[in-house]
Amino acid sequence: MDLSGKHLVLGLSGGIACYKSAELCRGLIKAGATVQVVMTEAAERFITPVTMQALSGRAVYGSQWDAREGNNMPHINLSREADAIAIAPCSADFVARLAQGRADELLSLLCLARPSGLPLLLAPAMNREMWAHPATQRNLAQVRADGAVVLGVGTGAQACGETGDGRMLEPDELLEDIAVHLRTDRPLAGRRVLITAGPTFEAIDPVRGITNHSSGKMGFAIARAARAAGAEVVLVAGPVALATPRGVRRIDVQSALQMQAAVQAEADAADVFVAAAAVADWRPARAHDAKIKKDGSGRPPALEFVENPDILHGVARSPRARSGALYCVGFAAETHDLEIHAAAKRLRKGVPLLVGNIGPAAFGRDDNQLLLVDADGARPTARAPKEALATELVAEIARRMPARTGFDTPDFQRTIAR
Ligand code: CTP
Repeated sequence: MDLSGKHLVLGLSGGIACYKSAELCRGLIKAGATVQVVMTEAAERFITPVTMQALSGRAVYGSQWDAREGNNMPHINLSREADAIAIAPCSADFVARLAQGRADELLSLLCLARPSGLPLLLAPAMNREMWAHPATQRNLAQVRADGAVVLGVGTGAQACGETGDGRMLEPDELLEDIAVHLRTDRPLAGRRVLITAGPTFEAIDPVRGITNHSSGKMGFAIARAARAAGAEVVLVAGPVALATPRGVRRIDVQSALQMQAAVQAEADAADVFVAAAAVADWRPARAHDAKIKKDGSGRPPALEFVENPDILHGVARSPRARSGALYCVGFAAETHDLEIHAAAKRLRKGVPLLVGNIGPAAFGRDDNQLLLVDADGARPTARAPKEALATELVAEIARRMPARTGFDTPDFQRTIAR
């Protein structure tokens, strides 16, 4: 994640989640951002300004009467260079203050005096009853209507001993959300991207099956990159042990048939389909209901296989894909003669762009090298981390997509749907 050149005001209001803000601040700095911390009096009860100063490398502000500013106006000066203000933790009281437009302490005053258009991101943190209270929900609706972005909350054990909604998101989750909002170029804004990832698992019986070495890392990285580029992302994932990228809707499947059903249900709403999954080519003709036992003869059971449907080919043949309304991207995992196989596969699958890679050099690894194959030929990328390749690929897809006419923008569609 690269936040170099970005300047953030990180506001802390009072809550036990302040301890997570130290980690968040560190993460922001590590990603290259500069951070100006502002704390309320209550926040200073939970964590000291000394900690936040040490982590941010800047003196922390806490009072609107702070005489360090030449004009004595920290509430104006601090936000003027910022690319965003993030309040983490944002307490129930602080949400209420924002909803009312209060200005009797520095942090709420600073939010009220922020330039119009400067993103205000809120990471709520509170007890589950406080979170669910109609007053809090009413205030959240109000601050949203006033232009703030509410980043959502986590669920689970709370410091008070209760369990439920209202925990502040974890520092890495916040970092990812903040990065999305700090990004000014969002080439896939308003687009819907459907991605398949990981292997499929084809059951032989309830305890066995066939699968492959795909880790799903590339498909998940593409989902993260597409979301960062502004897209609404649906990720159809085979059995992998990877965390769902923030803001991405995930549909878990096991078999190729389940993956196909999930893709078919989502493809009509998509603008882009990226088939990054390593779909098993064959499945056992019949999955046994009970475990197949050894019969004592020393002979293994004879398994019969049938071919799985080609999910990508099916989508690429659909009228929407043929008309250009759905841009399809395929992958090819090969072991040799990559360019020849990838070029042939692109034609066979009927897709405008096919991404080739050498399977054994890609499966399970954190880096990879891609070969982008289209009608004009093939272009290799550098060997790089999968995250970086995913960002490059998403930018490439965005460049290749047909420009919007104005009639197919989300705004126009909403207008005619009314
Ligand atoms: N694919 C798919 N459904 C299948 C098989 C493959 O959607 N049943 C997609 C993959 O997600 C990938 C592309 O098709 O985007 C190519 O997959 P790959 O396994 O490399 O190719 P195959 O079609 O299986 O061809 P071959 O076995 O001849 O290499």
